[in-house]
Amino acid sequence: MDHFEIRNGELFCEEVPLAEIAAAVGTPAYVYSTATMLRHAEVLKSSLGGLGDPLIAYAVKANPNPAVLATLAQAGLGADVVSGGEIQRARAAGIPADRIVFSGVGKTAEEMRLALAEGVYQFNLESMAEAETLSAIATSRGLTAPVGFRVNPDVSAGTHAKITTGIAESKFGIAIGEAPAAYAHIANLPGLSAQGVAVHIGSQLTDLAPLEQAFVRVGDLLSDLRSQGLELRVADLGGGLGVPYNPDLPAPPGPQEYGEMVRRVTRDWKERLVFEPGRLIVGNAGVLLSRVVRIKPGAVHPFLIVDAAMNDLIRPALYDAWHQIDGVRPTGDRWIANVVGPVCESGDTFATARVMDRMVEGDLLVFRTAGAYAAAMSSTYNSRPLTPEVLVNGDRWCVVRPRVDVIDICPADQPPWMNVP
Ligand code: LLP
Repeated sequence: MDHFEIRNGELFCEEVPLAEIAAAVGTPAYVYSTATMLRHAEVLKSSLGGLGDPLIAYAVKANPNPAVLATLAQAGLGADVVSGGEIQRARAAGIPADRIVFSGVGKTAEEMRLALAEGVYQFNLESMAEAETLSAIATSRGLTAPVGFRVNPDVSAGTHAKITTGIAESKFGIAIGEAPAAYAHIANLPGLSAQGVAVHIGSQLTDLAPLEQAFVRVGDLLSDLRSQGLELRVADLGGGLGVPYNPDLPAPPGPQEYGEMVRRVTRDWKERLVFEPGRLIVGNAGVLLSRVVRIKPGAVHPFLIVDAAMNDLIRPALYDAWHQIDGVRPTGDRWIANVVGPVCESGDTFATARVMDRMVEGDLLVFRTAGAYAAAMSSTYNSRPLTPEVLVNGDRWCVVRPRVDVIDICPADQPPWMNVP
């Protein structure tokens, strides 16, 4: 459920007409609903009832906007971070370090130093080489790093290949079969305290079976480790639960069913559970608001050329992702069109032969479910500005990232041999 709805013929975000934001801020612009984010956080929390005191560590990569992070921090969420930048953003937004888990295959020494200095809750190690580097850094500072291995359970998540992470050939984690030896090895490394285990098999999962299979394997590992004499305290079950993008397809299992599955699988576990939801919290809480620049005839269907492009929302180009496209003032008249952006690539196509609201030049439209992995993955390709972001809360709204023109991020100084005036 979200808080974008048609009232008196026009689309609102909570109490604010989207046309009002477009008039004030211009387009394209991302618009986020506070009420939707908070609702998703609450629904997830209640779905995880009966699981002790789980840590819900929001995956910052999904939407790292400072106002979004601050909203989620106030709702009591922690953070799953994958870079020094994300640690800094999470801390700046008020997320306590002891609610931050640090994932990622390529943590640098500098990032490890930052995470140690902040005192993060857990480092999710993804290789033995990483464990050794962290051991050396922690020891040199007289600190002990709380760690867990991210294990690769070799489960196919049934999602897009580019967002599958738990199959044997993937770069993530260590093979689950090698985990007992890995824990035995780090027991002898100074500066590390083995406290947990972590798993994450992919994103936009629309079936709980692969998740369940992965969690069962983690449960087996926990008992093996216990019989080896290692009692872990934390089990991080990752993120990955899908959200509905296309209302014509069956909705993915919701948080309630996910919670039931987790309760079933972890019934006899003693460890504190950590969850790393990203898309589930923010996906349906955002839209990309755009305007029709021009319409031109196509060989089969007309091209609706909009002022948003693949640099603003790359998911269709990168993952063939489907985003619902709605008029902000729909007339009820429908047509079939190709929706494209102005970037000079055929891949800058949002939708082909889409049945949608009929539009004319100057009309406003939205791409739905654009709260996750949307602004976060935007760029200035084709020297287009970075799209502004707006946060709505009831009848109030605020620009929480201004439009950034490329000229403002170009270096002021040219190389001295160029003699540019
Ligand atoms: N934990 C880890 C270790 C992750 O790698 C991810 C996402 C998450 C949690 C959060 O997953 P979520 O709950 O959001 O599914 N850009 C892609 C998605 C990439 C996901 C990367 N990892 C997309 O637009 O679909």
